[in-house]
Amino acid sequence: MKKKEDDEICIRDMTIDDLPKVFHIGEEIFTSERFPLMYRTWDSFEIASLYTGDAEFCVVAEKSGRVVGFAMATFIEKSRSAWKYGYVAWLGVKKRHHRRGVGMKLYKEIEKRLRDAGARMIIVDTEQGDVEALNFFKKVGFNTARKHIWMTKTFK
Ligand SMILES: CC(C)(COP(=O)(O)OP(=O)(O)OC[C@H]1O[C@@H](n2cnc3c(N)ncnc32)[C@H](O)[C@@H]1OP(=O)(O)O)[C@@H](O)C(=O)NCCC(=O)NCCS
Repeated sequence: MKKKEDDEICIRDMTIDDLPKVFHIGEEIFTSERFPLMYRTWDSFEIASLYTGDAEFCVVAEKSGRVVGFAMATFIEKSRSAWKYGYVAWLGVKKRHHRRGVGMKLYKEIEKRLRDAGARMIIVDTEQGDVEALNFFKKVGFNTARKHIWMTKTFK
């Protein structure tokens, strides 16, 4: 069963027509309860600007003609540094398609594209304690986790 679904998944370039679908899938995934920080930064402007700047690092997973997941990355070059970095900004799979290898296929494609473009390191981030994403990233080879503290100040 797992194998059959996996075979039906196609990873392809994201097109401008995919942006609304990707936006709505992200809205389902990056909820304020589960991803309080990512919820705040997931919006149509974020997707549009990533797509405009780095379309070659934006892919979708399609099953039976429907978008079921996406990955969006950017390529970072620092001046006076030989190191180039890939940053996987967003990766998401519709819940009902989880644990069927879709995320893995999306990630592998985006990693290949970043490596082909010269990235020496890939950076990802997620909410602290999110076992699903942390296990996923470990499975695809990430092993150094550093903590970065976000602080918020709310105006009354
Ligand atoms: C992370 C995410 C993209 C993984 O997508 P997926 O299609 O379910 O992942 P895969 O089926 O390719 O899983 C690959 C491996 O990741 C690990 N994994 C994935 N989901 C897991 C879970 N819920 N619990 C434990 N391990 C998990 C497993 O090792 C799995 O391999 P296995 O099924 O052979 O055990 C998906 O869970 C998701 O959309 N999460 C919400 C958004 C998010 O956290 N994005 C990352 C930060 S932007």
